[in-house]
Amino acid sequence: MSNSSTIFVANKTQDDCRFLSDVVAGLRQKRRTLPCRYFYDHRGSQLFDQICQLDEYYPTRTELAIMQLCAPEMGEQIGPGAMLIEFGSGSSTKTRLLLDHLIDPIAYVPVDVSREHLYDTAAGLAEMYPQIDVLPVCADFTRDFDLPAAGRRETHDAVYFPGSTIGNFEPPEVTRLLQQIVSLCGTGGGLLIGIDLQKNVDIVTAAYNDSQAVTAQFNLNILHRMNRELGANFNVENFGHVAIYNQALGRIEMYLESLCHQSVNLGEHDFSFAAGERICTEYSHKYTIDGFAAIAERVGLTLRRQWLDDNKYFAVLHFALLD
Ligand code: AVJ
Repeated sequence: MSNSSTIFVANKTQDDCRFLSDVVAGLRQKRRTLPCRYFYDHRGSQLFDQICQLDEYYPTRTELAIMQLCAPEMGEQIGPGAMLIEFGSGSSTKTRLLLDHLIDPIAYVPVDVSREHLYDTAAGLAEMYPQIDVLPVCADFTRDFDLPAAGRRETHDAVYFPGSTIGNFEPPEVTRLLQQIVSLCGTGGGLLIGIDLQKNVDIVTAAYNDSQAVTAQFNLNILHRMNRELGANFNVENFGHVAIYNQALGRIEMYLESLCHQSVNLGEHDFSFAAGERICTEYSHKYTIDGFAAIAERVGLTLRRQWLDDNKYFAVLHFALLD
């Protein structure tokens, strides 16, 4: 039995409209972009799961290993009586490891735009953790949303933001998102966040150019999705996958490159692509701990603890909001 309350903030048609308007706006820019949030339809989520299993793709397994080893310390660090708010809904081993080691947790609040996934995983977790109030919130965590009230009042709120998803955001957005976390949690609150660290360029580059071309399929799937959901007529064979490490900005940049001069129709819009022209589909920023902590300090978050793997590929950081 689940005591979860449900909060609806969007419906399917609104989501569809936003997909279309985001795509059109992105393709109209001089430097064309497609937001990486649209990778994750059913097929895209399957492909991402496959990426996580690849030998070359180190982040997922590395973060999981850190959680397996250090979740007890993280639970202690977060402290008793917390409401744990997860950005992106986890059904994953990582979330369960953390929930297993929280001390007298009041509530678990997964926040996700994908309603189906959110409620499925929330129901599963509510069953596994009958002592925790599981309160899913269907919302875009990059926008303001209200926290639900738990049955018992929490002593403090803590945001869990795993998966190095923060890497997808550009510096001004990172600051805005951290500010939002600060106002969501308030004084006494905390943030437990996974970040992918700067490392040997070849290792990073290989993670986004895997030998089985799963990442290429993941990237190209966004074109299939636009054909399917928006009635576009992309000839997917005419685009190629490009992922390069931008040393100066410390990030992987993913593109779809037009392999010939071509034009594509999307409803009332026509887009023409020159041979070699690129659409930017994703940034994946890699940080140093000091660099990330400096950004967080500026919005009032103090680094309290850090957990790393032996190779120093990945870090899970705990920040506190002191007064
Ligand atoms: C889900 C944002 C962590 O940036 O590594 C994987 C997404 N893109 N391969 C990442 C991704 C291509 C991934 N994150």
